[in-house]
Amino acid sequence: MTLYTLITGASSGIGLELAKIFAENGHPLILTARSTDRLEAIAKELRSRFDIEIHVIPADLSQPQAPKKLYDTIKRKKLAVENLVNNAGIATHGPFIDTPWEQERGMLQLNIVSLIELTHLFLPQMKERRSGSILNVASTAGFQPGPYMTNYYASKSHVLFFSEGLAVELKPHRISVTVLCPGPTETPFFDAAGMRDTQLVNSPLVMSAEKVARIGYDAWLRKKLIVIPGFVNWFMATTVGLMPRFAVRALVGYLNR
Ligand SMILES: NC(=O)c1ccc[n+]([C@@H]2O[C@H](COP(=O)([O-])OP(=O)(O)OC[C@H]3O[C@@H](n4cnc5c(N)ncnc54)[C@H](OP(=O)(O)O)[C@@H]3O)[C@@H](O)[C@H]2O)c1
Repeated sequence: MTLYTLITGASSGIGLELAKIFAENGHPLILTARSTDRLEAIAKELRSRFDIEIHVIPADLSQPQAPKKLYDTIKRKKLAVENLVNNAGIATHGPFIDTPWEQERGMLQLNIVSLIELTHLFLPQMKERRSGSILNVASTAGFQPGPYMTNYYASKSHVLFFSEGLAVELKPHRISVTVLCPGPTETPFFDAAGMRDTQLVNSPLVMSAEKVARIGYDAWLRKKLIVIPGFVNWFMATTVGLMPRFAVRALVGYLNR
């Protein structure tokens, strides 16, 4: 039976780089995002370079019915998912009070609810096979509160804590969980969130999507639970608890403004 790796948000940035790395390592793929044409072009290129099976199934995961619809389509096509890469995510940026609710709702649905529902839908088949993996993309944002991206930071905390708890529950079933927590990474994400002129995006901490994806893939391969690419990102995320919380809030608010 062919076992597939399903990657959400595979049309650009970190998800696209992960798709390339999984493909070059011979994994048959199911790619999803909203941009059908981009996904088809990526699939065509990867098929020709690596001679692997790739299915494209577009979905708008900010819609509440989308995860079940995606799951049903994959089931109808009789494709088995061995590895689930929950990468798709967006950010809202600016004072929470000023952001349109539809944007905040869509982000919560995409970053949290769809990620968790897809995990819930695909886990039973992994449990039955006694093998499988989940690779969730959170962020260094998940380690502390983030004024002016308040709901985004909180959404990534949810993904981080969800992944850590789940890893313990799934160990007896031989299903691994990895949570990739990148710091600022050069992708269209900054433009989509309208945050090109922030201190954070213009800091020397920014890494390439390819490097972040490679570090994430290697950690996934080693079944490492939490991976934070880049020494400074790692140091800040792991020592943030030692700083007074008021200072953390002030610093992150300054960086996000
Ligand atoms: N870039 C950073 O600085 C950074 C840092 C830490 C963590 N992250 C996380 O990394 C992940 C990937 O982000 P990225 O930086 O690679 O950004 P990106 O290049 O903008 O990619 C986001 C991906 O998500 C997809 N997507 C967006 N809205 C969607 C929707 N409603 N339904 C389905 N798919 C949707 C996009 O495809 P379509 O537009 O085609 O739908 C795209 O493939 C996110 O979870 C993000 O939070 C990013």
